[in-house]
Amino acid sequence: MTRTQVTIIGAGPAGLLLSQLLRLNGIDSIVLERRTREYVEARIRAGLLEQGTVDLLIEARVGERLERERLVHDGFEMAFDGLVHRIDLKGLAGKSVSIYGQTEIQHDLDDAVVVGGGDVRYEVLDVVLNELTGNRPRVTCTHRGKRLEIECDFIAGCDGYHGVSRQSIPSDVIRNYERVYPFGWLGVLADVPPLSHELVYANHPRGFALCSMRSATRSRYYVQCALDERVEDWSDDRFWDELAARMPPQYAQRLVAGPSIEKSIAPLRSFVAEPMRHGRLLLAGDAAHIVPPTGAKGLNLAAADVRVLYQALIEYYGGGGTTLLDEYSGRALRRVWQAMRFSWWFTSLMHRFGDDPISRKFQVAELDYLTQSAAASQTVAENYAGLDFKPVPTAACAHGGP
Ligand code: FAD
Ligand code: DHB
Repeated sequence: MTRTQVTIIGAGPAGLLLSQLLRLNGIDSIVLERRTREYVEARIRAGLLEQGTVDLLIEARVGERLERERLVHDGFEMAFDGLVHRIDLKGLAGKSVSIYGQTEIQHDLDDAVVVGGGDVRYEVLDVVLNELTGNRPRVTCTHRGKRLEIECDFIAGCDGYHGVSRQSIPSDVIRNYERVYPFGWLGVLADVPPLSHELVYANHPRGFALCSMRSATRSRYYVQCALDERVEDWSDDRFWDELAARMPPQYAQRLVAGPSIEKSIAPLRSFVAEPMRHGRLLLAGDAAHIVPPTGAKGLNLAAADVRVLYQALIEYYGGGGTTLLDEYSGRALRRVWQAMRFSWWFTSLMHRFGDDPISRKFQVAELDYLTQSAAASQTVAENYAGLDFKPVPTAACAHGGP
């Protein structure tokens, strides 16, 4: 039997970041990951970080390359009906966002964990979580052919949407909320200069499109596609033609096309499992919630969960009791639902939902309103850049106090 303080299931950004922050605070963990390190590092996913996520990565001492190489964006653009409206994040919300790929974060975390002597076991199969409601939870698995049994104080379920952790919670104590959208995103990565120095989100009658980037020489572009489409249906030429067709003409004419390095289709869903704790099991990141990618909240939410969770574990191991652990689910879910709402709203505003002409009229009217109203633009800016949470006022305070 192996013994550790926290067993972490999954070595994605949530699992590795948690392990790193715990280790820096003298708390032991073992991370169990189903895939190889190379596989996890190669997955092309998120690219846009809120300042809160950047701050946490710096706190975890994996911010050096990030601070050197990131692209700082003070705003982004929304294109519709031939118009372009810029959301001034810095001016309206006092914050910027950073472009730095999830692949790079994963790489930096992997390096830091290895250099610091962290314990990450890759290619682990048949993970089973046991005795979650007792004081000594156990995890059993097979690691490169050998059976492994780990006894610990807590299990952190950081194993993504398809992981085993959430599924280990009895169905009568967990409630799932879900919406599946009737389309997907086709994403292409290419070594071509980005369309613009900031991101451009486009609402077009042909469907949504997004021009993002990973660096000054690498672009990440997306177009909304039907759920039954396959990557093989999309030649590079078809992709570039479709992207250009959805961009305003002044942008389409300067779009630089090139061979794709990666091409994939992702479905869109909103999903939350409540509560995020069951006994000694604490869920974090995609294991507990999925947002549609519009607004880039997935990775940022995973980091926000980790921040709340590692502070709770520090309090516990510092002899401070279980107050923060008991509050973990409620505190994490407060941010989760705000990000859920924003991602759903942004998705609804920017995508083509069938052929109903009035839906697009509503969308264009709302986009037009954004161009007219500083208050509306500020709402978008605050949510996009990442909300700060103040304590909920008590009834007395909310009414001005006694
Ligand atoms: P994950 O990154 O999913 O990591 C979970 C880890 O657990 C994986 O490595 C997995 O192999 C491992 N695992 C699973 N099951 C087991 C098991 N039984 N035993 C052991 N290990 C297990 N977010 C954005 O903000 N912007 C984007 O553009 C964006 N694009 C995305 C594109 C795709 C295709 C996907 C799938 C997600 C995208 N996201 C995006 C979301 C973002 O990448 C996730 O929110 C983020 O990866 C969450 O991190 P995580 O550590 O919680 O989960
Ligand atoms: C990216 C993805 C998003 O969903 C988004 O809103 C912004 C950027 C990206 O992959 O770069």
